[in-house]
Amino acid sequence: MDKKIDTKRSWPKGYEPKEETEDDLSTRLGLLETILKAKPEKKASTDIFKVMATRRSTRKFSKNPVEKWKIDKILAAADTAPTAGNFQGFEIFYVNDKETKEELVKASNNQPYVNTPLVLIFCMNPSRVKLDFSPKVIMKFSIQDATLAAAYSQLAASALGLSSIWIGMFDEEKVKKIIGTELRPTSILCIGYPIKKRPAKLRRQLKELIHVVNKKD
Ligand SMILES: Cc1cc2nc3c(=O)[nH]c(=O)nc-3n(C[C@H](O)[C@H](O)[C@H](O)COP(=O)(O)O)c2cc1C
Repeated sequence: MDKKIDTKRSWPKGYEPKEETEDDLSTRLGLLETILKAKPEKKASTDIFKVMATRRSTRKFSKNPVEKWKIDKILAAADTAPTAGNFQGFEIFYVNDKETKEELVKASNNQPYVNTPLVLIFCMNPSRVKLDFSPKVIMKFSIQDATLAAAYSQLAASALGLSSIWIGMFDEEKVKKIIGTELRPTSILCIGYPIKKRPAKLRRQLKELIHVVNKKD
């Protein structure tokens, strides 16, 4: 999956990539437990509330690549998300070449920041959801499965000191063609190191968000 390294390119100290074979990645991908339990090579935030409170989207990424162990954790995090009936009605497409990323920029309304070091496309796969409900319900489950998985990956990326931008504005048909699938993409998660770390955005007051329903009192 990983490409040969461009030897002409210079890399910041500590971020020099190593050659990796197809086998490396497929072996790692079978090891969810191991990956999740592996001690981070560098400090990662394990306080989930802190991660949530400090996460901030970014659209300006540095060119520094994302380390392999972080990619593993981000992918494994997606697979821990709950799914309808535990049928995992979603798939992840890991985009690993410059040309495809550039095509995805065009398919996403020319949003240039789609071209980030790590690009993951979350797609629905309703055929995995073996529940006896109408196709409409199955579709609803599968869109939720794919969305939740992407959210888990997004939080994992933040916990690992990375930042991301969630892309929902894209031409589904074009993205399907680019990545070679019939599955409907729900989001593109673009991940990398932010050029600048910024504080989380403000939200509305919780009391405006929460609608208490209590028919008894
Ligand atoms: C469903 C959804 C679709 C989004 N689509 C885009 C998009 O196409 N382009 C973009 O720049 N940001 C997109 N975003 C990112 C939001 O603009 C961003 O999350 C929001 O402004 C809140 O900022 P925060 O993530 O820093 O809290 C999307 C986010 C969500 C959840």
